[in-house]
Amino acid sequence: MLWRNSPDSFGLTSKLLHWVTAALVFGLIGLGLYLANTKVRLDQLHLYGWHKATGLLAFSLILLRVAWRIISPPPEVIGTAGWQSVVAHWVHRLLFVCTIAMPITGWVASSATGFEMSFFGLFSIPLITPVSERLEDVFFALHGIIGRLLILLIILHVAGALQRQFVKRDGTLKRMWF
Ligand code: HEM
Repeated sequence: MLWRNSPDSFGLTSKLLHWVTAALVFGLIGLGLYLANTKVRLDQLHLYGWHKATGLLAFSLILLRVAWRIISPPPEVIGTAGWQSVVAHWVHRLLFVCTIAMPITGWVASSATGFEMSFFGLFSIPLITPVSERLEDVFFALHGIIGRLLILLIILHVAGALQRQFVKRDGTLKRMWF
């Protein structure tokens, strides 16, 4: 299988980046919602560490995905079904915007708490803002709001892919599989 995309199919690089980032974002949403809705407990502090480090790993892969889209553009959307392709196009764009905004807002908010962060014990993650309760509150609130929007976009994206694969049977989902 080709590593690069072709005018009518996705290459292995895009497929791997798509499914790995999708799995990471699913996990991050689940763990993030759990942490935001649970009282902070000393024996669960490592979960915050995992969320932060995995969030930054996802961030790097998402930036790589954006770069790869420019280096090797994806194939055209199958079919030209009016409003549906407009919705699909905007959902894809907003998915990129939200998956980039999530790690940035999380990183800013966490930096503002002043707590040290580590990338899976390998190196320290730099704090990118001064300690500030105001910044912490604003950016955690943004992290929560963008997270809700991201969940909505993922639902639309998955519903669209399933509808096109199983109702319209145009092979959209199969094209992203291996
Ligand atoms: C693609 C990346 C990320 C996704 C999808 C994600 C997702 C989420 C979600 C859905 C929540 C729950 C928000 C709420 O209900 O208020 C959350 C909470 C949280 N996130 Fe992230 N996150 C990401 C990256 C990061 C990064 C990079 C950091 C820090 C370096 C971070 C730090 C946190 C913290 C500390 C919480 C708990 C907030 C609280 O206890 O109120 N996140 N995350």
